[in-house]
Amino acid sequence: MKVFIVGITGGIGLRLARILKARGDEVHGLYRNSNQTKELNSIGVTATLGDLLSIEPEHLTDAMRGSNAIVFSAGAGGGSNTMTKAIDGEGVSKSIAAARLVGISRFFLVSVFPEAWRERHMDEGFEHYITVKKHADIELSQSDLDWVILRPSALKNEPGTGTINLGVAQIHTEVRRDDVAATLAELIHTPAVSRKILELTEGSTPISKAVGAISSH
Ligand SMILES: NC(=O)c1ccc[n+]([C@@H]2O[C@H](COP(=O)([O-])OP(=O)(O)OC[C@H]3O[C@@H](n4cnc5c(N)ncnc54)[C@H](OP(=O)(O)O)[C@@H]3O)[C@@H](O)[C@H]2O)c1
Repeated sequence: MKVFIVGITGGIGLRLARILKARGDEVHGLYRNSNQTKELNSIGVTATLGDLLSIEPEHLTDAMRGSNAIVFSAGAGGGSNTMTKAIDGEGVSKSIAAARLVGISRFFLVSVFPEAWRERHMDEGFEHYITVKKHADIELSQSDLDWVILRPSALKNEPGTGTINLGVAQIHTEVRRDDVAATLAELIHTPAVSRKILELTEGSTPISKAVGAISSH
């Protein structure tokens, strides 16, 4: 399988690239900083250099062409509202449009729990981020693509446990980036899971079992 990751140098993106390569998949993606070329090449990834803010649609479609699945795990990471809108919002729209143009229907979006951190009374920038992510979910879920939206809880960098809670509704807690990436890899290899919004938290179910349970619903 050939998978294209938008945000391939990110915390989730790079972990996912490594896991997919280890499973024998072909992996490529979009990255914006040429300093990262060496690291990507070292794991067997030949990615396309380009900035999601300014990339020409033809450049993105050329980069994606031939892929079996797109994963969008880019994000402005708490930047200004303008950057959040440009990456987490318009970046998703551009990627959906490019995937449709080149006929790639399988599309995975890393989103967020809409009710994340309700109890913390977060600032306006965070509320804007949540709104932009929700609009991206709406756009993808209303498209004709074969989509899966994965909403992880708050991300942690501790080593993965290989176990999770995955379902259409979960309580927002935390989850390790390793486990998010491993869940995405399993979902990518489970075509029966389609047109679903899934919420992901730390938990005690082995990842393959959790994804298997969703696919048999
Ligand atoms: N943080 C949380 O607790 C949390 C919880 C739930 C969901 N999420 C979502 O999870 C997703 C991924 O998280 P993560 O930890 O992997 O994030 P991350 O480490 O910040 O990675 C973001 C990726 O997006 C790329 N990117 C940003 N701006 C770009 C641009 N203009 N052009 C091209 N690429 C660009 C980054 O590239 P560079 O390497 O060049 O910066 C990086 O590869 C995000 O969509 C986020 O909203 C986060």
